[in-house]
Amino acid sequence: MVGAGAAQSSAAGWRNPLRDKRDKRLPQIAGPCGVVIFGVTGDLARRKLMPAIYDLANRGLLPPTFALVGFARRDWADQDFVDVVYQAVKQHARTPFRQVVWDRLAAGFRFVTGTFDDDAAFAQLAETLEKLDAERGTGGNHAFYLSIPPDAFPVVCEKLHASGLARPREGRWSRVVIEKPFGHDLSSAVELNSVVNSVFPEESVFRIDHYLGKETVQNILALRFANQLFDPIWNAHYVDHVQITMAEDIGLGGRAGYYDGIGAARDVIQNHLLQLLALTAMEEPVSFSPAELQAEKIKVLSATKLALPLDETTSRGQYTAGWQGGEHVVGLLEEEGFAADSRTETYAAITLEVDTRRWAGVPFYLRSGKRLGRRVTEIALVFKQAPHLPFDATMTDELGKNALVIRVQPDEGITLRFGSKVPGHLMEVRDVNMDFSYGSAFSEDSPEAYERLILDMLLGEPSLFPVNAEVELCWQILDPVLENWEQHGRPEPYEAGTWGPRSSFEMLERSGREWRRP
Ligand code: BG6
Repeated sequence: MVGAGAAQSSAAGWRNPLRDKRDKRLPQIAGPCGVVIFGVTGDLARRKLMPAIYDLANRGLLPPTFALVGFARRDWADQDFVDVVYQAVKQHARTPFRQVVWDRLAAGFRFVTGTFDDDAAFAQLAETLEKLDAERGTGGNHAFYLSIPPDAFPVVCEKLHASGLARPREGRWSRVVIEKPFGHDLSSAVELNSVVNSVFPEESVFRIDHYLGKETVQNILALRFANQLFDPIWNAHYVDHVQITMAEDIGLGGRAGYYDGIGAARDVIQNHLLQLLALTAMEEPVSFSPAELQAEKIKVLSATKLALPLDETTSRGQYTAGWQGGEHVVGLLEEEGFAADSRTETYAAITLEVDTRRWAGVPFYLRSGKRLGRRVTEIALVFKQAPHLPFDATMTDELGKNALVIRVQPDEGITLRFGSKVPGHLMEVRDVNMDFSYGSAFSEDSPEAYERLILDMLLGEPSLFPVNAEVELCWQILDPVLENWEQHGRPEPYEAGTWGPRSSFEMLERSGREWRRP
């Protein structure tokens, strides 16, 4: 029952002294609770949320009394909902299917039909949750997962408030989980946050940035702060520049509804990539308590500025037809649902500077795009050239700059790139890699990001969830770029299967640098 106590205590602001004494190597189990998913018929719920809930149950991390309630417009009975979750679990769960786990989990599934503005449906939801509390023992602890477009947040929050669901009973908790995009610029984010905070206090709001749930992303902190080796060179004296790349090979077919008018910068730079920058550039927190961690992230994001002039330090593109993985693929403008004159960028790159003693003068290049050469996310610290090379130029022809690369995905690990003598009687030096790979170092598979984040939310553990201030700072950084692009014409075309538009290469060439070829 450690989990139950811990979950309740953090809601009430009281810290269970036993909690800090527990063996931190053991996973914590969530206490009695129920989760309500709004937008349960959507892609995210089917591909990520439902499978993650099953995987958590399969790993024994959910309480036997757990309940899941779907809320959507469809006229489904409970059994229809059970069938939908079953299909999702069969197709997308990470861990093997076990009938006994499934049967126990599915016994706690309920479905409520309704639209987001339907008072009667919310009254029925309240009744359903009360029944589950009494019959299944969910203990009055409820999480509301808004897997819905942000323009529906206000009405759902208002209805949760009006039906009394946002106010937990004494000693119980009520939390809201929201998915990005958290607004589309700074002012809309401020407005959205104030609507959500008018119903749920900040400590009950869990904003999902699923990159923070990835093992390799959490490992940035272990790499930096659990080792003596890297910190002395983790600064402007040794690092020439940092490249953060999130490349995807997929196109946007089927995602027009969400993506058209949003674009790559809002979709992933404002959140995932700036979070990666924050973890890479921040100072060591006093402790790993959520408050200390957030304080360091907020500090470094406050010091992060766009390099100018934006016409030279940013780049945006839109993919056209091309070849990818041996297949011919269409361009964005031919994808279903996109306006024929859509100006949505599918590639974005920006240059940032971090104005701190550690990083002054070191450019941080961030790029992300769809339909690029291959799927890869990595953070590369590229080091300065040795001040003197006592070799003939011909001996070091193929020597690049040393690099430390955190491979976030798909081949998770870390690479150190340095020069080594080529075997033979000549002194010839060439770059080689030293690799750490999760696959060979650990026998256990990494959990999916959503498993970690859903469990943390149920435990009331906020470390991996960005707070208001972070979200707003990230918009503050990005807004001038979006405004600048708005005033220009169309994004520059790039062929599917390549590494983005010409201007993104020029962005680095101007200072004699180049993008790594992952
Ligand atoms: C989402 C973006 O946040 O992340 C998508 O909205 C993107 O556009 C996805 O495809 C990528 O996630 P992952 O975990 O596959 O890198």
